Amino acid sequence: MGANTIAAEDQAYLRIENLCKVYATRDGEVRALNDISFSQRRGEFLSHVGPSGCGKSTLLMIAAGLLAPSSGAVRVGGRKVDRPRTDIGIVFQNPVLLDWRTALGNVMLQAEARKLNRKEAEARAGTLLESVGLGGFEERYPHELSGGMRQRVSICRALIHNPDHLLMDEPFGALDALTRDQLVLDLQALVSERHMTVLFITHSIAEAVFLSDRVVVMTPRPGCIDRIIDIKLPRPRTLAMRETPEFAEYSRQILDLFLARGVLREH
Ligand SMILES: Nc1ncnc2c1ncn2[C@@H]1O[C@H](COP(=O)(O)OP(=O)(O)O)[C@@H](O)[C@H]1O
Ligand SMILES: [Mg+2]
Repeated sequence: MGANTIAAEDQAYLRIENLCKVYATRDGEVRALNDISFSQRRGEFLSHVGPSGCGKSTLLMIAAGLLAPSSGAVRVGGRKVDRPRTDIGIVFQNPVLLDWRTALGNVMLQAEARKLNRKEAEARAGTLLESVGLGGFEERYPHELSGGMRQRVSICRALIHNPDHLLMDEPFGALDALTRDQLVLDLQALVSERHMTVLFITHSIAEAVFLSDRVVVMTPRPGCIDRIIDIKLPRPRTLAMRETPEFAEYSRQILDLFLARGVLREH
C-alpha cells in the first residue's frame, strides 16, 4: 500500500467491506447485494443511485446496523457495527409522523426516546424547524402540513440529537418536482451549516449529481458497485448549474452506465 492509500484509508469514517446480503424467501434465495465495498470520509455527501430492487434500502439498513449482512462488515471509526447504531439519524421516503402530535411534538419524539434534556431539545427543535422554513408551524398537526412540510419535520426529527451520520433512503421520492427541488436546496444548506456526513439513496440521477461529493452507481440486482464518480462541481450548487455542460456530463456518465446494463432501454 502506498503512503497516499494509507492516508486515504485513515480518513475513512464509514467502511463497508465485502458486503453480501442474501434473503431467504419461500421461492428460494434472493441475493440482494453482492460484494459491496466502499468507504466514506467524514463530512462527505455520498449517494447511491440505482434501479428499484438493486439493494439500496438493504444497504442502508445494514449501514445503520438494523440488518445483519450475510457476509462482510460495516465499520464506523474503525469499529465493527454489530447492533443498531445510535449515532445516526435516518429519513425514509414516508415521513411517518404521529397524527396526534404537533410538528414540534413529532420532532420531540426522538428526543424523548433518547431521554434528552427536554428544555435543550425543545430549543434545538425550534431552531431546526426554523432553519427548514417551518418557523411558526411548530404547533401545527401533520394533517395541516403539506407533504414537503411533513418530510421537513421528519428531517428535523432525525437531526434533533445532532447525529454524526445522516442516512436518507429516497427521502424526496414521494414529492412533486418543485417541492423536491426546494427540499434538495434546503438539505444542501443544512448539510453545509452542520458539516454533516450523509449517506443518501436515490433513483434520481439529477438529485445524486446535484447533492453529492461522490456518486456510487449500482448495477441491477444483485446490487454491485458499477462505478464511483467524483462530482467536482463547485459549492453551493444552484438550480441553474443543472443546465451546465459539466452537470450534463456527469448525468450522461451515469445514464450511459444504466443504458449499458439494461436498466434503461432506448427504442
Ligand atoms: N425482507 C426481505 N425478504 C426477502 N427479500 C427481500 C427483503 N427485502 C428486500 N428483498 C429483496 O431484495 C432486493 C433488494 O431490495 P431493496 O434493498 O429494497 O432494493 P431497493 O431499495 O434498491 O429497491 C429486492 O429484490 C427485494 O425484493
Ligand atoms: Mg428502497
